[in-house]
Amino acid sequence: MSTSTNSSLIVRELSSQDENSFLTSLLDWKHEDRSWMTFDWKPGMSHEEHLKILYNYKNNINLPSHFVASTMLYGFIEDQIIGRVHLRHNLNENLLLRGGHMGYAVSEKFRNQGFGLALAKAGYQHLSNQLQVEKVLITCATTNTGSVHIIESLGGKLENIVKDENGIDTCRYWV
Ligand SMILES: CC(C)(COP(=O)(O)OP(=O)(O)OC[C@H]1O[C@@H](n2cnc3c(N)ncnc32)[C@H](O)[C@@H]1OP(=O)(O)O)[C@@H](O)C(=O)NCCC(=O)NCCS
Repeated sequence: MSTSTNSSLIVRELSSQDENSFLTSLLDWKHEDRSWMTFDWKPGMSHEEHLKILYNYKNNINLPSHFVASTMLYGFIEDQIIGRVHLRHNLNENLLLRGGHMGYAVSEKFRNQGFGLALAKAGYQHLSNQLQVEKVLITCATTNTGSVHIIESLGGKLENIVKDENGIDTCRYWV
């Protein structure tokens, strides 16, 4: 399990103790795309089932052919989840164009307090130290000013701007 701290923020995987935190924090995303909080949980799914899916993704067990192994880390302040960072252990053709090694999100009520950068730093450290990724690709829409700030604060070097599959201009940065 990965752990890193930034003042009172702890960034780590979900554990069997986190069901209430997860379900409560999910309500913070009710007006936004749920995938900013979770790719895998669906209404009615048990916590154990959810943890098993996350385990399989992390350990490359029974993944669909177009998926790579991945680790989901959540940012906790005490028992509240403020956001998440999703780490792709390696890149396939799609991720190389758009998606990269990590994606992060902070729930609206916790934005503009430095948590986005803290999650991205924790994700970068996990990729470098635990997963031995030497060069980290991070992509974001040119219009996502917050994410551009975060990537540039991490030291990202812009390789190019490409159109993604929906025609959206997307920056590709290497850190
Ligand atoms: C992008 C996102 C993660 C930023 O999270 P955050 O916690 O607000 O970010 P931080 O507080 O760490 O801010 C980082 C920097 O971005 C700036 N910033 C954040 N949101 C901004 C916005 N909407 N417009 C302009 N600047 C913004 C901050 O001022 C800060 O700048 P600094 O480095 O000069 O101090 C958050 O808005 C979010 O979850 N958005 C939806 C999901 C998403 O777009 N994820 C990124 C996909 S590539």
